[in-house]
Amino acid sequence: MSGLPPGPSEPPIVQTLWWLARPVSFMESCRRRYGDAFTVRFVGFERPTVFLSDPAAIRALYSEQSNGLPRGRTVALRPVLGADSVLLLEGPEHIARRRLMLPAFHGERMRSYEQIVEEVARAEIESWPIGETFPLHPRMQAITLEVILRAVFGVVDEHRREQLRERLPLLLDQNSSILLQLRVLLSQRFRGPDPRARLNSMLAEIDELLLAEIAERREDPELERREDILSLLIGARFEDGTQMSDRELRDQLLTLLLAGHETTATALAWTIDLLLRHPRALERLKREIEEGEQDDYMRATVTEALRLRPVVPLAGRKLAGDLDIEGLRLPAGTDVTPAIWLTHMREDLYRQPRAFAPERFLEEQPATYGWIPFGGGIRRCLGAAFAEFEMRIVLRMLVADCDLRPVGRRGEPIKRRNVTFSPRHGTQVRLIFRDRALGAPQVGQSPQPVA
Ligand code: HEM
Repeated sequence: MSGLPPGPSEPPIVQTLWWLARPVSFMESCRRRYGDAFTVRFVGFERPTVFLSDPAAIRALYSEQSNGLPRGRTVALRPVLGADSVLLLEGPEHIARRRLMLPAFHGERMRSYEQIVEEVARAEIESWPIGETFPLHPRMQAITLEVILRAVFGVVDEHRREQLRERLPLLLDQNSSILLQLRVLLSQRFRGPDPRARLNSMLAEIDELLLAEIAERREDPELERREDILSLLIGARFEDGTQMSDRELRDQLLTLLLAGHETTATALAWTIDLLLRHPRALERLKREIEEGEQDDYMRATVTEALRLRPVVPLAGRKLAGDLDIEGLRLPAGTDVTPAIWLTHMREDLYRQPRAFAPERFLEEQPATYGWIPFGGGIRRCLGAAFAEFEMRIVLRMLVADCDLRPVGRRGEPIKRRNVTFSPRHGTQVRLIFRDRALGAPQVGQSPQPVA
């Protein structure tokens, strides 16, 4: 049968507000009422979007390489990321960028970033106050931003790093897709100031800093010995022998920042929130780190945290041809997305899906399309190995060298923050003790918020 699956009959504005305010309740209510596949209508989107949660349907969606990007992603992100961003290009142009960029993100390469991540995390942890309550999420954002500035951008000049450190988080906060679109619509309707004006002036300053960095790097006699990702991209060639232009390098840098900074920080904040509420898992992880021989439980913990608290809730496609799922034929042109949270909560895939149980991944790896925190197919996250590696290093330091305590009796509720699912209160913690090797405790010093 051709057509779209059923979905909520509430007006689009109600569906949009429900999604913005309570995304998990919205998706769970839809699944209860309409089943694994349902159709939603959001304000500002030309067409309805079909949400899927059955792994077989997701496999069918992600395996078809000719499926494109939903219009929403491109409209919201192109003004910031630029026309050449790997996140936004499609077809052969997209594949060419992925081929060129993939070697820089290969699992083996990650070792060269270990020292940077350790240094950055150590400096950050040393600045935390002992005995005071503070939100961990902004502290994780500070770490992941600094790691990107050093390991991905390779910025050595401290003054330039400081300028980028000030501006980049503001840029990311300004660019919340649905909200920005709503604000643009409202400003046009009521003839108010264009909400993109501030964004554009900040973008111009950031471009200037990045283009200066790229120009200097091209002249760097040490370029071939450098291991940061920008240097690798400058040295890389497309299959026809050409290189990325300065403008394209700038687009890819901002893409890596936008895709990799907030996501990894949020995943770390969630993992700590879960560990602090599950003392047995925390103890087991601590034991494994002390024994120092294996990291199986650490890997299982990261996998489980990304399952139970998927940071990115949607990673959709626009159908290039008809797609057959669950007795329906979805027509070409339809926007379709896995509802990642719903897939991860399936009882036919996970026993007690709402429980935090890293053990479940000790013996068995997750099913390819039943565990999709990084999306899938030819658009699967380029930085997945980078993110998991960074998470393991930061978690190792937090678990082995710090005594962190949870604040409040319950774990964090999920809040939608831009395009991520984030801990509502930022994962409030109290640092009781920090290993001397990390530096002397500075009692009373408050951490500076990132943005
Ligand atoms: C826990 C952290 C992260 C999560 C949960 C995450 C999640 C995702 C998701 C869901 C997608 C979309 C995939 C799709 O459409 O199928 C994606 C794409 C992407 N991610 Fe990540 N990501 C993370 C970290 C990173 C990092 C650290 C980087 C790089 C430094 C990165 C770079 C990218 C890029 C370049 C893409 C676009 C791939 C393409 O379109 O071909 N991500 N990520």
